[in-house]
Amino acid sequence: MKRIAVLASGRGSNFQAVLDALARGEIQAKCVGLITDNPKAYAITRAREAGVEVTVLDYHAYPSKDAYEADLLAAMQACEADLFVLAGYMRIVGEAIVEAFAGRMINIHPALLPSFPGLHAQRQAVEYGVKVAGCTVHFVDAGTDSGPIIIQRCVPVLEDDDEDSLAERIIVEEHRALPEAVALFCEDRIEIDGRCVRILPRA
Ligand code: GAR
Repeated sequence: MKRIAVLASGRGSNFQAVLDALARGEIQAKCVGLITDNPKAYAITRAREAGVEVTVLDYHAYPSKDAYEADLLAAMQACEADLFVLAGYMRIVGEAIVEAFAGRMINIHPALLPSFPGLHAQRQAVEYGVKVAGCTVHFVDAGTDSGPIIIQRCVPVLEDDDEDSLAERIIVEEHRALPEAVALFCEDRIEIDGRCVRILPRA
């Protein structure tokens, strides 16, 4: 059985969606750890309730980003996970970590990439005036939200939407897309071909 570990910075509702899918047997894996950069993250409570080991690396207690990343790399290696899931992890992952876990680290982003990478993706979408928005699960590479795309789901943008109402509509799809991508990975059904991802049929 595959081992997965999750990185999260806050509320952790996407993490919870993965935990729920694991509990329902929809993902054939064991969640072996939650790593967070934020000692106040609600994701910590969710992990403890599910019996998942928690590692807190308080970003602001580190003298530099490099020092933090060195400990993060060590914590990730200690998980011995097959897959790392960034579920609302709000920091750019450094080069050494990207290299160490290439093809084994995925992220959920609340926009239809390559539109609106980075922070406040839903606000960017409302301000730009797009009529369709959504979420993307993708592999993590050295850029910002730029790696090969595994799954995208879309939602309409309504006339009176603001950042919050759009985010509420998008997160429903996030909670479906992320567990689905994790399940595909754990079933060895994802093949990366350059920028493109092929989803293989069930064996
Ligand atoms: C989610 O909308 C996720 O897509 C987003 O943060 C939220 C975390 O919610 N991530 C990013 O914007 C990463 N660039 P959650 O903690 O309830 O899962």
